[in-house]
Amino acid sequence: MPRKTEIKDYIRTIVDFPHEGIMFRDVTTLFADPRGFRMAIDQLLHPYAGVRFDKVVGLEARGFILGGAVAHQLSAGFVPIRKKGKLPGAVISEEYQLEYGEAVVEIHDDAIEAGEKVLLVDDLLATGGTAEAGIKLVERLGGQIIGCAFVIDLPELGGRKRLEAMDMDVHALCA
Ligand code: PRP
Ligand code: ADE
Repeated sequence: MPRKTEIKDYIRTIVDFPHEGIMFRDVTTLFADPRGFRMAIDQLLHPYAGVRFDKVVGLEARGFILGGAVAHQLSAGFVPIRKKGKLPGAVISEEYQLEYGEAVVEIHDDAIEAGEKVLLVDDLLATGGTAEAGIKLVERLGGQIIGCAFVIDLPELGGRKRLEAMDMDVHALCA
């Protein structure tokens, strides 16, 4: 195995998961490697040096792992956006389309205060449906999204264009 030097060297692709035709980018191999995980967190933070954030919002499920570490580094709070029915308190919801299906995501209705500066974090940007739903939830609570940070961008699926059309600043570590 050649020496791993870049983030993408730590990510494996599983063919036909969870459905035939999907090339699933598996970041568990990145997270499991001490050097790879640190590199990912450092690179996610890189464009935001000197920027103050109130909250990091992580998208279920792999956005929790990244977002928690990023929030710690930024001394910001962490807020989860979860799939329908998982959060215990009062929530607001958004429906969206996935690369492979449909879903609803939710946020606690008191998780972000109006005017708070937010960094949205997830492992992967595909169609952008999940991120767009997350952005809408944060904005409905009055949060101001300063950036959207991903480990992987799959540009052929259009997510980056979709978020940029919403005037979002998109940061991704590899394609
Ligand atoms: C994956 C990924 C993103 C989303 C990206 O999550 O972690 O959240 O898909 O796809 P999109 O840009 O087309 O919306 P998944 O829905 O597999 O959920 P999980 O992390 O809970 O397994
Ligand atoms: N979410 C949507 N598409 C995906 C892919 N190809 N790999 C991992 N997660 C995904």
